Amino acid sequence: MSDNKPKIHAMLRRPIDCSLQNIELFIKIVLASGEVPVENLNRGVPAAEMLIFVMQEKVVIGVCALRYPNAKFHKHLFEKATVPEMYNPHSLEACWASILPNYRNQGALSSIYKTTQKYTEHRPMHGVHRAENNLISEPIKKLGYVQAGIDFYSDTSDNKLCLIVKNHDPVFDPNKKMRYS
Ligand SMILES: CC(C)(COP(=O)(O)OP(=O)(O)OC[C@H]1O[C@@H](n2cnc3c(N)ncnc32)[C@H](O)[C@@H]1OP(=O)(O)O)[C@@H](O)C(=O)NCCC(=O)NCCS
Repeated sequence: MSDNKPKIHAMLRRPIDCSLQNIELFIKIVLASGEVPVENLNRGVPAAEMLIFVMQEKVVIGVCALRYPNAKFHKHLFEKATVPEMYNPHSLEACWASILPNYRNQGALSSIYKTTQKYTEHRPMHGVHRAENNLISEPIKKLGYVQAGIDFYSDTSDNKLCLIVKNHDPVFDPNKKMRYS
């Protein structure tokens, strides 16, 4: 019996390989979720390491990105979460995950995860979400992320935040470089 559900797949693109229209579409889809200010996106999207587009057939239904965080802010997050010893300068940030409302709960985030996993392999990863954002907090646990430290307020947001990590040691070991298994 064939499965007639339209297939969802995610693809990675370097910003430099994206058309201006695709960069604009990326930003529009993140803005639709209301989690990120437009200034952050205008500045950050062209400078990201990788942009992820989730497609259902030929329609873009969601996005996400990987980026190298600003080192000072990155460190600040781990300090605020009360786990400065976990700060890992090699960690890539997964950010701006946004699936258009009609396409949520159909495995789009899982598809992003599977595709990015091939790219990031065993390297340390982290992300930040509003502590009260239940849309992301449960799915992200299922994808292997755990909370680092405690919920906190940072210098840049009015919302209480939650720092999540994957492939991080309780205490950063500089000898491990980027390979965690
Ligand atoms: C958060 C968001 C990206 C999740 O995307 P999604 O495509 O709906 O998530 P998925 O359907 O891929 O779910 C991921 C996994 O978590 C599981 N899951 C989803 N909700 C769950 C819940 N409440 N409890 C436990 N598991 C849950 C799913 O079953 C899936 O696992 P599976 O692939 O093994 O079945 C989406 O809700 C969204 O865009 N929200 C608005 C923007 C936002 O909050 N972004 C986060 C900013 S940090």
